[in-house]
Amino acid sequence: MATLSTQFLGKKFKNPFVLASGFMGVTGLSMASAAKHGFGAVTIKSLSLQPRKGHPAPVIVEFDRGLINAVGLSNPGVKEGADELALAKKEAGVPVFASVFADTVEHFAEAAKAVSKAKPDFLEIDVSCPNVDNEFGTPFACDPKAAYDVTRAVKKAVPIPLSVKLSPNVPHLGPIARQVEKAGADAINAINTLKGMVIQPEARRPVLTNKFGGISGPALFPVATRCIYEAYQSAKIPIIGTGGVTTGRDAASHLMAGASLVGIGSALHFRGLDAAKTIGKELLEFMELEGYKKVQDMVGLAHEA
Ligand SMILES: Cc1cc2nc3c(=O)[nH]c(=O)nc-3n(C[C@H](O)[C@H](O)[C@H](O)COP(=O)(O)O)c2cc1C
Repeated sequence: MATLSTQFLGKKFKNPFVLASGFMGVTGLSMASAAKHGFGAVTIKSLSLQPRKGHPAPVIVEFDRGLINAVGLSNPGVKEGADELALAKKEAGVPVFASVFADTVEHFAEAAKAVSKAKPDFLEIDVSCPNVDNEFGTPFACDPKAAYDVTRAVKKAVPIPLSVKLSPNVPHLGPIARQVEKAGADAINAINTLKGMVIQPEARRPVLTNKFGGISGPALFPVATRCIYEAYQSAKIPIIGTGGVTTGRDAASHLMAGASLVGIGSALHFRGLDAAKTIGKELLEFMELEGYKKVQDMVGLAHEA
């Protein structure tokens, strides 16, 4: 009998599906609800030192092959966010990922310390949001040295296992993956959204008020697969493969590219609240059919081809 239960950095997961940051995970109770709806772990929407309102609406629009968003990292700030994380820890019954972002290396470390009070199982740093570069400049994840510096500082500041969320908006992910590993990251999350634009021809203007936004969902899927593959070639730390997964076969493909866990976000829009359950059922069927007993048996297989 095949099983979806797996291990990641020494913790048990009932399945490999991680609720991606920015989906449902704004409050402790919504994260707990995601866990009840089948996620093996949950991530909170990224938190900053101070609360942020985000960009003016519309901030998220569906197009024919995905979603484009420029939410602008709206969040209640680390103080309130830490309370929500603590609630998620109490209620979700699955591992909880904190997520923080900031404008400087020092502020990243400060934000990480603030959320660590809630004792999340893992800490993720969002160094890769493509929608706030007017305010924050080039994301840390687009420059190997900046990615190294921020990872090192956060790793020194908190003892929680650290995942670094990387960006597809680079020509090659390998050098960045190597630097974050060298700086002490325990895991890589590949990837955040891809910078894009959608224009509505009748209106003669971009659909988002911010004009540019991050592409997620099916349109992102092959880009994510490429990034996971490149990260796996270049670093030994485990990878959370995130981007465009909407079916069990998609999940198998990210695992075979080198992911140990699979992040899921936009599929909640395309396949409903039970997306993790549905995708899990499909992955299990695939495993039974192809003769895989464990999720780990599929990790990195595409590299042997
Ligand atoms: C509306 C929205 C908000 C997001 N907010 C965050 C965020 O706060 N922090 C972060 O690291 N990623 C954020 N992301 C990126 C997702 O976590 C994920 O990396 C991306 O959507 C690709 O996965 P998917 O195709 O399964 O949605 C956001 C994505 C969307 C669509």
